[in-house]
Amino acid sequence: MERRLDNILQWLDANRKRFEQDLFSLLKLASIGTDPAYDDQVRETGKWIHDFFGSIDFEVKWIETCGHPIIFAQSPPVDNAPTVLVYGHYDVQPPDPLELWDTPPFEPAVRNGNVYARGATDDKGQMLTHLFSCEAWMKEKGSLPINVKFFIEGEEESGSKGMNEMLAGKYDADIGMPVNELLAADVAVISDTSQYGPGQPAITYGLRGIYYWELRLKGPNRDLHSGAFGGSVSNPANALTHMLDALIDGDGRIQVPGFYDGIEELSEKERQLFADLNFDDAAYMKELGVDAIHGEKDFSTLERRWARPTFDINGLWSGYQGEGAKTVLPAEAGAKFSFRLVPGQSLEKVKSGLEQILKENCPPGIQMELIDMHGASGCVVSIDNPFLKSAAEAVKKGFGVRPVFIRSGGSIPVVLAFKELLGIDTMLLGWGLDDDNPHSPNEKFSLDDFFRGTRSSAILWQELASKS
Ligand code: BES
Ligand code: MN
Ligand code: MN
Repeated sequence: MERRLDNILQWLDANRKRFEQDLFSLLKLASIGTDPAYDDQVRETGKWIHDFFGSIDFEVKWIETCGHPIIFAQSPPVDNAPTVLVYGHYDVQPPDPLELWDTPPFEPAVRNGNVYARGATDDKGQMLTHLFSCEAWMKEKGSLPINVKFFIEGEEESGSKGMNEMLAGKYDADIGMPVNELLAADVAVISDTSQYGPGQPAITYGLRGIYYWELRLKGPNRDLHSGAFGGSVSNPANALTHMLDALIDGDGRIQVPGFYDGIEELSEKERQLFADLNFDDAAYMKELGVDAIHGEKDFSTLERRWARPTFDINGLWSGYQGEGAKTVLPAEAGAKFSFRLVPGQSLEKVKSGLEQILKENCPPGIQMELIDMHGASGCVVSIDNPFLKSAAEAVKKGFGVRPVFIRSGGSIPVVLAFKELLGIDTMLLGWGLDDDNPHSPNEKFSLDDFFRGTRSSAILWQELASKS
């Protein structure tokens, strides 16, 4: 058994440079899922992944959806062995603002052992670790010791419309079977999160959900002179700030009626688990360039980030933003904002409460349009899942350090879908770091972690096989 793994690990060592070259070629494709101008490159990225699976003798399906294609692939079947479902996403966030990148976002560049490019950590680099670990087994051994299925989408960053239709059974005829049969597995694995810190790998057992909104306000039928007209009609920009301000108080408590209903409060045990991670607030402040941390009253930084719901404005527009002063009363204003949710909260309740509080605070003479962009609940998986022991062992061997268990504030909506549709838990094995800048300029991924992740993945297949 161990010998077999030695050969695999040697094969990985010998191919390390090639993995990096392949990663760079994938990162060169600008698969910006939200922007139709990039549809061709999005499809090319899907094709790259599809063809990779063909090259390692996996059975692969290209699934057209209402949005970007989904790639499903499957290792040669092994009897009496568990089945793992690996999810990843090949779409990336827009790279704007471009001028803040030190090197262009789709020209991967290596500095200090990191590759810099949009998608480096989120999620191309992390996702590829599982493709390469499978390649190692196939090329070195001709098969995997367990069954691995891949389920890779191109709309994670924009609400996963196509994937959700597929999960709802809409493409069953195209795929030739019910979707829950296609995806049936014992456990899921996703690498799209972070380690606790450099040199300290982690397994994430909880994620926050998200509810994303756009609010558009209309006032007078044209921009007005703010002197000639100001004070006589509502100003949409004033209205917008007033309405958004009503959503949260100075102690970081969200004011949407019913917002906190049903939340499972953190247990003392879990609070202690967080506290034992010895999070360094001073280092965090320094790293982020702020002179204070601030958030919901009576909670620690990790509790606020991982286990408390929040409200954040993601974008805001109205009025004059050019050089100098312009005395305008703008005709329109708008904002994009989102709530992070934790287990127990109800999307329906948040929605109706939000509609209510915005209406109550919308001044006379303003027309409001509220657009529900996408929503997903938070989730926590049981730490007692026996597969997690194998994962912890694999990560320990791959990184040389035992992983800690953490939660994360980000959202990966498919985790809940796997639980509800397939009845399986997801193991979030994150190879990234908190300062990788996903969604920001200068996104990066450590090439050492890329390799350690690949190694951990190859070991995981073995660990899971020896437990069956
Ligand atoms: N990989 C992230 C999720 C993530 C980020 C998990 C940081 C843990 C730490 C994922 O690609 C992502 O960005 N998800 C979106 C949600 C989606 C529905 C738009 C997010 O969290 O904003
Ligand atoms: Mn991601
Ligand atoms: Mn992301």
